[in-house]
Amino acid sequence: MKIGIIGSGNIGATAARLFARAGHEVAVSNSRGGEGLGTLIAELGGRARATGIEEAARFGEVVLVAVPFGRYETLPAEAFEGKVVIDAGNYYPQRDGNFAQLDGGETTSSELVASHLKGARLVKGFNTIWSEHLKQQGDTGLPLAERRAIFIAGDDEGAKQTAARLVEEIGFAAVDTGPLGEGGRRQQVGTAVYNRELSAGEAARVLSAG
Ligand SMILES: NC(=O)c1ccc[n+]([C@@H]2O[C@H](COP(=O)([O-])OP(=O)(O)OC[C@H]3O[C@@H](n4cnc5c(N)ncnc54)[C@H](OP(=O)(O)O)[C@@H]3O)[C@@H](O)[C@H]2O)c1
Repeated sequence: MKIGIIGSGNIGATAARLFARAGHEVAVSNSRGGEGLGTLIAELGGRARATGIEEAARFGEVVLVAVPFGRYETLPAEAFEGKVVIDAGNYYPQRDGNFAQLDGGETTSSELVASHLKGARLVKGFNTIWSEHLKQQGDTGLPLAERRAIFIAGDDEGAKQTAARLVEEIGFAAVDTGPLGEGGRRQQVGTAVYNRELSAGEAARVLSAG
């Protein structure tokens, strides 16, 4: 599968490595038109290329957005149309600045991203796992219930299935928290599953208790 990666920091570069190792083609971008990514691209061999943001979005059948949440409005929306977009972002006001609708609990960060990326099939995912754990904890040898959980939320069932397949290919288990709004709230910063080392089996119990 062709995967575009927007942002090549902690999460973007880690995901690029995992997806390329799982056999996917990745186009990795950053805020500098792909400059400075030579070492990462060389490490990933023929499966990776460095590009600008728009090109990475157009390249991907799936596009992972891994930039600081507060920058979402800079993304070129038309390039994401029809794509399965995985939004790994979290809202941290001290980094992102204050968003009144989020502070007031009216909506969620991923719903704001979805309303900007109109036409994208948005899934919130990869936002609850620390990048070092993402790097280290995938294990395709484990049964799904014992694997580390990666939570997904979204309104498009097909898009969630695609995201879940990718999660499983890199050794994790996808746990569906529900629609983008309601599910997104169950996996955002400060929730019972945020940055917790839960297997899929444990995650299901934590979610049903909450
Ligand atoms: N760190 C984690 O463990 C972790 C875990 C789960 C979720 N998240 C969330 O994932 C998102 C990314 O976090 P991170 O830690 O990976 O960030 P990071 O290490 O700071 O990397 C951010 C990347 O985004 C790029 N970028 C910044 N502004 C951009 C823009 N306007 N357009 C395109 N690219 C832009 C940066 O480009 P340059 O390289 O050119 O500066 C950089 O490659 C955040 O919302 C974070 O809360 C982080």
